[in-house]
Amino acid sequence: MCGIIGYLGSHEAAPFLVEALKRLEYRGYDSAGIATVHDGVLDRRRAVGKLVNLSDLLVHEPLAGKSGIGHTRWATHGEPSTRNAHPHKAGPVAVVHNGIIENYREFRAELRDLGVMPATETDSETIALMVEHYMSRGDCPRDAVERTVKRLEGAFALAFLFEGEEDLMIAARKGSPLAIGHGDGENYVGSDAIALAPLTDRITYLEEGDMAVVTRTSVEIRDASGALAKREMKQIKTDATRVDKAGHKHFMAKEIAEQPQVISEAIGHYFGAGQSEIRFPSDQVDFTGVSRMVLVACGTAFYACLTAKYWIEKLAGIPVEVDVASEFRYREPPVGPGTLALFVSQSGETADTLAALRYCKGKADRIVSVVNVTESSIARESDVALPILAGTEIGVASTKAFSCQLLVLFVTAMEAARQRGLLSADRQADLVSAMRGLPARINLALDAEPVIEAVAQELAEARDVLFLGRGQMYPLALEGALKLKEISYIHAEAYASGELKHGPIALIDQNVPVVVLAPRDALFEKSISNMQEVMARAGKVLLVSDRAGLGVAGEGLWRSIEMPGVEDLLAPILYAIPAQLLAYHTAVAKGTDVDQPRNLAKSVTVE
Ligand code: F6R
Repeated sequence: MCGIIGYLGSHEAAPFLVEALKRLEYRGYDSAGIATVHDGVLDRRRAVGKLVNLSDLLVHEPLAGKSGIGHTRWATHGEPSTRNAHPHKAGPVAVVHNGIIENYREFRAELRDLGVMPATETDSETIALMVEHYMSRGDCPRDAVERTVKRLEGAFALAFLFEGEEDLMIAARKGSPLAIGHGDGENYVGSDAIALAPLTDRITYLEEGDMAVVTRTSVEIRDASGALAKREMKQIKTDATRVDKAGHKHFMAKEIAEQPQVISEAIGHYFGAGQSEIRFPSDQVDFTGVSRMVLVACGTAFYACLTAKYWIEKLAGIPVEVDVASEFRYREPPVGPGTLALFVSQSGETADTLAALRYCKGKADRIVSVVNVTESSIARESDVALPILAGTEIGVASTKAFSCQLLVLFVTAMEAARQRGLLSADRQADLVSAMRGLPARINLALDAEPVIEAVAQELAEARDVLFLGRGQMYPLALEGALKLKEISYIHAEAYASGELKHGPIALIDQNVPVVVLAPRDALFEKSISNMQEVMARAGKVLLVSDRAGLGVAGEGLWRSIEMPGVEDLLAPILYAIPAQLLAYHTAVAKGTDVDQPRNLAKSVTVE
């Protein structure tokens, strides 16, 4: 949700900034821009659309200077246009911003009274205008920024550059992530480690309310009270932030294909070689006294939580409530003793999920998170953060993070059951052995890709698609529909199979493909009855099932995809693969931008 980069070094800044923006483009791609200071002059270039447009512009209108800031935008206030693109400049100051300034109208009114007219519709520009205003009254850049930042409400990560100041960059954060990268005679600012990784492996994450004054040789951080703050410098593993497609056409394809490997690594982390003992921070998470669990997340991570509800209730007998974070945070739900609150987030920065977590602080017995980015705000603000170990996920549509979230949530359900005396040693050993077999089964599921690709060619013709699932496959149906709509722009909806006849069956005709996700489990016969109801109304059914299921499903299927057999409880993890591949190949067939679908961004750090 907007990416920020800043560079103070000994090389020309523009190429560094553009390279870093490429790695940040997954955060937004409505427009991009950079600003530099050269011979004391602050100048900028901006272009609407993908980063390539900015690169082209820089070929014709290069920008010199060894200090610079850059931005890739996901529009919130003001349409995507060159005028609304960052950096915003007001007199001697330029700023890049990630987040939303909630009181910007108040600023605009104040500026209007001072005779200052904003040139854009953005909230971000008012930050530059306020800093300019304070500087025009005699403040130095640092005081002007400090005064402005103190007045900002909402969420922000900011980087400022100033006319006449070639060795100064000021950064500030509240609500949106920001990191300082340390080089030799160079320093950087970036939204995340991915942006900074090729420049340095030494990183300091700014904390809430921090402001940093950065030169080439120094970084001075002050906390919200203005006191000097010592923040830990971390060594990051740069290979963990490697960003390339490894020969695949899209990041999404690469990330789908990586699932046997990342799932296997997660299993290795939570079980250790050849053991069935769960490696869980049991000393920090006590499920024995838990009377209720609250699981909160957004989007795909929310569907992972919905799946976990089936597992936790079934294995551990703990009642589970699942909520989308944007609803949970404002509903003022009762959270009290006996409640364990669990938050799931790939990025660990999703604004609504973070706000929901903060709501639960001091109310729930324990705050646990399931995250991919272990340095993220959600991870840091939890009592316990369980890593999903999916590695960097760049494709905007989440794939490997989803399956790894499921895996860790399944481990959590097992651990809760174990602690509560509901998981016998034999059953535990069986489940662990089934999990160890998952990577091989995922490989077999990936072998179905040519069949899925062929079906996708036909699915690409559809205007509407329905997904059905029963029991623990229902959340996966929701995820399959989300995946299809977000990257192929085909309208897709999901229903619990049994709900179809209560309304949605009216939609069925020969033009609406219905994807049924149904392994041959205890609910299979029921799913097949619902499927027959669709077929009886000329509906086109694509059944995803195992050999046993396809063998008894009967005549009349439109298409089928065969999955290997798997332990019943683990089927949602395995069946995520065909759901993802179906969406991927449909999008490719439609020629949409798979990795950067329209209107979306990877990390949603605004409400
Ligand atoms: C969909 C997708 C989103 C995210 C959601 C939450 O493919 O990726 O729905 O799952 O925005 O993001 P995180 O997990 O980063 O909190």
